[in-house]
Amino acid sequence: MLLEIKDLKVSYGGVEVVRGVDLAIDKGECVGLIGESGCGKTTVGLSITKLIPSCKGNINGGEILFSARDILKLDPEELRKIRGHEISYVFQEPFSSLNPVFTIYEQIREALEEKDNSDARVAEILKSVGLEKIIGRKNMYPHELSGGMQQRAMIGMAIASKPSIVVLDEPTTALDVTVQRQILDLIMELKEKMGLAILFISHDLRMVFNIADRISIMYAGKIMESGLKEKIASRPAHPYTMGLIDSIPSLEHRKRTFNAIGGKAPLFSDLPRGCKFYPRCRFRIDKCLEKEPELENVSSGQASRCIRVRDVVH
Ligand SMILES: Nc1ncnc2c1ncn2[C@@H]1O[C@H](COP(=O)(O)OP(=O)(O)OP(=O)(O)O)[C@@H](O)[C@H]1O
Ligand code: SF4
Ligand SMILES: [Mg+2]
Repeated sequence: MLLEIKDLKVSYGGVEVVRGVDLAIDKGECVGLIGESGCGKTTVGLSITKLIPSCKGNINGGEILFSARDILKLDPEELRKIRGHEISYVFQEPFSSLNPVFTIYEQIREALEEKDNSDARVAEILKSVGLEKIIGRKNMYPHELSGGMQQRAMIGMAIASKPSIVVLDEPTTALDVTVQRQILDLIMELKEKMGLAILFISHDLRMVFNIADRISIMYAGKIMESGLKEKIASRPAHPYTMGLIDSIPSLEHRKRTFNAIGGKAPLFSDLPRGCKFYPRCRFRIDKCLEKEPELENVSSGQASRCIRVRDVVH
């Protein structure tokens, strides 16, 4: 595995919000991390290169193995060499990540290695992310671009240093549907061409089904189900996953069934006993309250955190 996250635990103000997450990404593979707002996805993504500011949160435990090194044990200098170079990021809001006072050319140049940051290299990056229109327009600032073009520029900055892995955190949420599709196509193309590994964070299961090879479904700070996309799509093995799949509006019933999972995710400061999905689960029984289930293999390439998995899967 290129990157292996083991038993990651992260807290904010003493409240644990990532409660022992395991996740692995192989070379050239796209893993989708999905779950409702607030379940801890961004926190996992940021932890990969220790981007959680110490004034806000704390990584309390676990290992993040990248090319056989534990990132959590690296000193700041070693981390700087990895962050933005071997592991890079694209964040949700393109405009907040692009600096408004520098031109697009300057920002892409900045992302390139110093010995290799000629105009020709910048042009090459612009071309690879479908921004041919901007080639040669060195005075162009971020605000002169549409949202989709800004996101392309962000992706260009993320791939400029030829990383082996890119973390894409809700990379298309701010965009309209047609542009979303174009950005997804671009991501897929770059993955194939560059052999990029991708951690694709999203709350949109339909989108993740389009792009990911494997999927991990997160709820209240833990992975509830993980496995190959095909298996999860055809034979979900956790009631939460089933609810998410039922919530995907089908083409015929676009306006219907939007919230198939009733209720709300619990507060981290007040988590229920036993299985954290219990209050919303249609399969629950009293035994589910006894202790939090473990993530157990259901079949090869699929694991679920549910004591009733044999009754749930059919
Ligand atoms: N800086 C912070 N200080 C305190 N709590 C935080 C901070 N950042 C996140 N949290 C809390 O930690 C939990 C996980 O947040 P995180 O941003 O990782 O979730 P997420 O799954 O990425 O959500 P979203 O889909 O809304 O982006 C949430 O309950 C959030 O309120
Ligand atoms: S352990 Fe029980 S409450 Fe939790 S998901 Fe399975 S059936 Fe539902
Ligand atoms: Mg987030």
